[in-house]
Amino acid sequence: MKLDEAMLERRSIRGFTREAVPRALLEEIIELAMRAPSSMNTQPWHLHVLTGEPLERVREGNSSRMLAGVPPQREISDHGAYDGPHRERQVEIAKQLFGAMGIAREDKERRQDWVMRGFRQFDAPVSIVVCFDKSLTEKGTIAHFDLGAVTYGLVLAAWSRGLGTVINGQGIMQSPVVREHAQIPDDQVILTCVAMGWPDDSFSANAVRSTRRSVDEVARFVGFD
Ligand SMILES: Cc1cc2nc3c(=O)[nH]c(=O)nc-3n(C[C@H](O)[C@H](O)[C@H](O)COP(=O)(O)O)c2cc1C
Repeated sequence: MKLDEAMLERRSIRGFTREAVPRALLEEIIELAMRAPSSMNTQPWHLHVLTGEPLERVREGNSSRMLAGVPPQREISDHGAYDGPHRERQVEIAKQLFGAMGIAREDKERRQDWVMRGFRQFDAPVSIVVCFDKSLTEKGTIAHFDLGAVTYGLVLAAWSRGLGTVINGQGIMQSPVVREHAQIPDDQVILTCVAMGWPDDSFSANAVRSTRRSVDEVARFVGFD
């Protein structure tokens, strides 16, 4: 698959088949993603690839704590509620996803069910927990940039092999649970996770194509003419 095609066609996948993902394929994807640039080539990333029983325990712990009202416990600062244009875009994608799934605005039960699916990492057969070296926390936010780059690499490399992904902040909302069942070493910080598997083509939300701002709105060209 050409790079342009992968970048254009990729979208977040939130419904997966039960088919397992071979370890060799995951290793290939990770190897490719790690060609990502990083500050001074520090490569501060650590990837914990979960499947089977440990992933089930993470899903269970994450979901039951959220249901019990345990406040989210992430290891990076919480973005809180979005306002203004960011909130508008958040609402737009939510409307698109709920629309595709036929979930009405007043259908509290199905909306809650959707949120719980997120905490279960959309029942994906694989979850890659993306961490960075804790020693870098005193050096600002540059490691977050590096991890963003490697994560996009993972997502694109997976897509070009027919695998679907969704970067899934909800999946690490209860990070102590992830830390325990994935046995994350104390010298690493959990940033996010990526749910991955074979897309279920009958799952309507998988067809949703999110919008993007125009180049005119985003980019300024200085000194061109
Ligand atoms: C840091 C980050 C965290 C995300 N967390 C979630 C999440 O918890 N649940 C979810 O459904 N999607 C999550 N997403 C996916 C975004 O909603 C999605 O990328 C965005 O709506 C654009 O859609 P697209 O990926 O289909 O282009 C996350 C994306 C990023 C980059």
